[in-house]
Amino acid sequence: MTDAAMLVQEVAPRDGLQIEAAWVETADKIALVDALSGTGFSRIEVSSFVSPKAVPALRDAAAVFSRIRRRPGTVYVALVPNPKGAERALAAGVDEINLVASVSETHNRANMGMSPADSIAGFARIMDSVRGAPVSINATVATAFGCPFEGGQPDDRVIAQVERYLSLGITGVTLADTTGMANPRQVERLVTRVLALVPAERLTLHFHNTRGVGLANVLAAWQAGARRFDAALGGLGGCPFAPGATGNICTEDLVSMAHEMGIPTGLDLPALIALSRDLPRLVGHDVPGQVAKAGRPCDLHPVPQGA
Ligand code: COA
Ligand code: ZN
Repeated sequence: MTDAAMLVQEVAPRDGLQIEAAWVETADKIALVDALSGTGFSRIEVSSFVSPKAVPALRDAAAVFSRIRRRPGTVYVALVPNPKGAERALAAGVDEINLVASVSETHNRANMGMSPADSIAGFARIMDSVRGAPVSINATVATAFGCPFEGGQPDDRVIAQVERYLSLGITGVTLADTTGMANPRQVERLVTRVLALVPAERLTLHFHNTRGVGLANVLAAWQAGARRFDAALGGLGGCPFAPGATGNICTEDLVSMAHEMGIPTGLDLPALIALSRDLPRLVGHDVPGQVAKAGRPCDLHPVPQGA
């Protein structure tokens, strides 16, 4: 990754589909992941190995992993909440496990049924059990920019959780704005502090566009030195255990902004737009992304007759 490139990790198959009420067939999930692989992603979060009671929409994670076509060089990631999930993920042959615990006690209890300390104690057991396995480990600090139940979270607690992850030997860290509460100044402040602990090539920012501030937060993080961002095709997504949760920042909107700014992503934007335009068929409703509706800035319209 050069200094000037943006790494976009696609999360629609996981964050996007986890909240969908209607069942998406396993074959359709596989086709989506394969199509996303074809647009050039170096990282795709494919599914999660969580309790099928908690997130029935992703209960077919193992089947999806067993049948996707793995593009050489692409890292296929799974979200994991606990040791049982790690066991299932390893058996499915995931390339990377993304562990998740909220900084907010209340959100972690709602989402994971335990305290953040208990989640992280489980991560320590997972780190022991994966030693030597061909898998990399990332860990997410959820609600890092605010909790829908508790409100703002002290930066120091976010930093302490990042330090705890690093002390366990976890290499990648994600800061997640689970319900789109972040603002650009807060993002700049927190990203600057975390970049003193985690190098840019191992730090991911995960923003939701719940309040329309998603891409502004990306820009603030970028200017503070962050280079990796999660995004979901069409702007799908949301945490089923956070009231009012809505979609991730939209992949094709992010990629369009980056390309217009001269920041390369390595992604095929027209192919992403075509895929996004097919999402309403897949999920049965309109999706929030804007560039798939408006076209790229360079997709000009015919001049009206007589103008
Ligand atoms: N995968 C599949 N099954 C799991 C599991 C996993 N990772 N973890 C636990 N289970 C099963 C247990 O085997 C047990 O099954 P049983 O009832 O047949 O005996 C049951 O779930 C209850 O286990 P327990 O350890 O008591 O879990 P819990 O009910 O307290 O749930 C979590 C804890 C973490 C598994 C659950 O809250 C969860 O999956 N949360 C994820 C939520 C999510 O994905 N949010 C969005 C992304 S951040
Ligand atoms: Zn999310």
